[in-house]
Amino acid sequence: MTTQPKPLARILSGVQPSGKLHLGNYFGAVKQHIELQEKGNCFYFIANYHALTTLQNGPKLAEFTRDVALDYLALGLDPAKAVFFRQSDVPEVTELAWILSTVVNMGLLERAHSYKDKTAKGFEASVGLFVYPVLMAADILIYRSNLVPVGQDQVQHLEMTSDMATKFNRAFGVEVFPEPAPLVPKSGQMAKVPGTDGQKMSKSYGNTIEIFAEGKPLDKTIMGIKTNSTPLGQPLDPETCTVFALYSLFATEEEKAVLAAEYRSGAIGYGSAKKQLKAKVDGYFAPFREKRKELAAHPETVEAILQDGARRARAEAMQTMELVRAAAGLSSRLSAGER
Ligand code: ADP
Ligand code: TRP
Repeated sequence: MTTQPKPLARILSGVQPSGKLHLGNYFGAVKQHIELQEKGNCFYFIANYHALTTLQNGPKLAEFTRDVALDYLALGLDPAKAVFFRQSDVPEVTELAWILSTVVNMGLLERAHSYKDKTAKGFEASVGLFVYPVLMAADILIYRSNLVPVGQDQVQHLEMTSDMATKFNRAFGVEVFPEPAPLVPKSGQMAKVPGTDGQKMSKSYGNTIEIFAEGKPLDKTIMGIKTNSTPLGQPLDPETCTVFALYSLFATEEEKAVLAAEYRSGAIGYGSAKKQLKAKVDGYFAPFREKRKELAAHPETVEAILQDGARRARAEAMQTMELVRAAAGLSSRLSAGER
């Protein structure tokens, strides 16, 4: 008897083009996305509809979208292994978002942390920002995704997505949507990359180290990492040092132990530790920088990759929408009750 191989899980994630990608994005998300290409049937997209909730500047959004595409491709996204596309090239997702908005409860959306955080930061409390989780659920469900690699901050959105999937299936008596599960990096496996001021690295705190910074600007950023004022020659504490935490992202266990011992014995000052960090960043990203420059010189190649990704993604989305429309009584096909 032959056993059928189990179908690969559909893995999906999106990244907002709302600024230059930084080390927090890389170690918290991008690196994992690239590694997962080997493990499942991956769909990755640039969430430009979502970015509109906080960035309303056409030329900037187009520029950041292009940057994210170049960054992902340079960092190893392989279009032969993963479907890579712009969210807005599959407009069916907005239709599904509308349909899901009819099964989701206002109270659920009112509890969203991201809405509260963003409005607290001064972003306009627009309807789009409020229904952001509904569009995100549509992104996930339209490709009938099983696993969604995201940071801890997105887990609540995944819970809302499960709620909408279940409610839709129950309301229309069908099993169109599987319940997706979040795939969150284990804590300890660099859950939170610190920024140059020691807080969580984030575009909105202006404390980032960009993945593709190099030369003088990168020097300046690294030399500007905040440290305490321990005089040279005195012992330093690696546990509480941002430079050490960032160095650890790139170093082997042995290299970490050597630097930690130098910190504790007072044999090294922050200036030299920062130089070692800079050398690590340069060494790690050098091949990716070269690749990015080559890709940037051929925008037509990048565009062709995105268009091909959109074509493949759209074919999937249209199949799901046929089922959704039929179930909801929106098409000429019969709904479950009439069959
Ligand atoms: P930002 O805070 O810079 O606006 P986003 O919210 O767009 O970043 O995050 C995109 C992805 O990168 C998310 O999956 C998020 O969890 C991850 N991420 C962002 N900053 C960090 C960080 N400092 N440490 C770990 N992961 C992060
Ligand atoms: N909200 C996600 C973020 O800010 C981006 C995103 C949009 C996303 N749609 C998605 C992530 C679907 C995973 C799945 O990081």
